[in-house]
Amino acid sequence: MKYYLLFGPPGAGKGTQAKLLADKYNLRHISTGDLLRREISNKSELGLAAKALMDAGNLVDDSIVEKMIENEIDGNPTVPGFLFDGFPRTVAQAEALDALLEKRGGAIDKVISIIIDDALVYERIAHRAAVEKRKDDSNSDIIKNRIKTYHQMTEPLVDYYKDKGKYFEIEGDGTIEEIFNKISSLI
Ligand code: AP5
Ligand code: MG
Repeated sequence: MKYYLLFGPPGAGKGTQAKLLADKYNLRHISTGDLLRREISNKSELGLAAKALMDAGNLVDDSIVEKMIENEIDGNPTVPGFLFDGFPRTVAQAEALDALLEKRGGAIDKVISIIIDDALVYERIAHRAAVEKRKDDSNSDIIKNRIKTYHQMTEPLVDYYKDKGKYFEIEGDGTIEEIFNKISSLI
């Protein structure tokens, strides 16, 4: 079983690339953001608990996303591998994921980080806001908070995975196809 992780700030292109890669390599794409948005549209208890945090661009509780990941992994025992998008986002989540995979005899293979600067984050999200109607794309204060949350809570994972020799970076300022080819060469 292979476990890959796509890493990067909001709007880096994680979701765009994950869909293409999942198709090419027959991996199960797991986006915690997409799973949470599904819970919100189903008006589930979990969705209700997550909605205000997501709409403001804050992280949802570690325990909620960890449980969702465990359900996804255990619910798909026959796939050749998983591609995580937007998870883990805190050191605590990364530790929980390591423990979860270890229990199942696995480990993260590679973390692929898509590097884009904050200015391009705004440009990409402004473009998407016109197409999708995500609440957390709808104003610049929320986007600013998502970027700040990324730098504070998620960027420490770079060192976490570098220390394990699993961290790879690619430049995210290019066409979708260019970036796809760069990531493919790492998989
Ligand atoms: P999540 O849904 O994960 O959002 P995000 O990390 O902010 O990332 P995005 O989905 O905004 O960007 P992306 O990198 O997928 O870019 P995309 O491919 O769409 O999380 C949302 C919220 O859920 C969080 O704020 C938090 O509240 C909660 N949450 C989720 N996971 C959690 C966790 N683990 N723990 C706690 N809370 C969690 O691309 C963006 C746009 O750019 C698109 O329009 C796309 O078409 C375009 N584009 C992509 N690539 C290119 C390119 N190369 N050139 C030009 N345009 C491009
Ligand atoms: Mg996404």
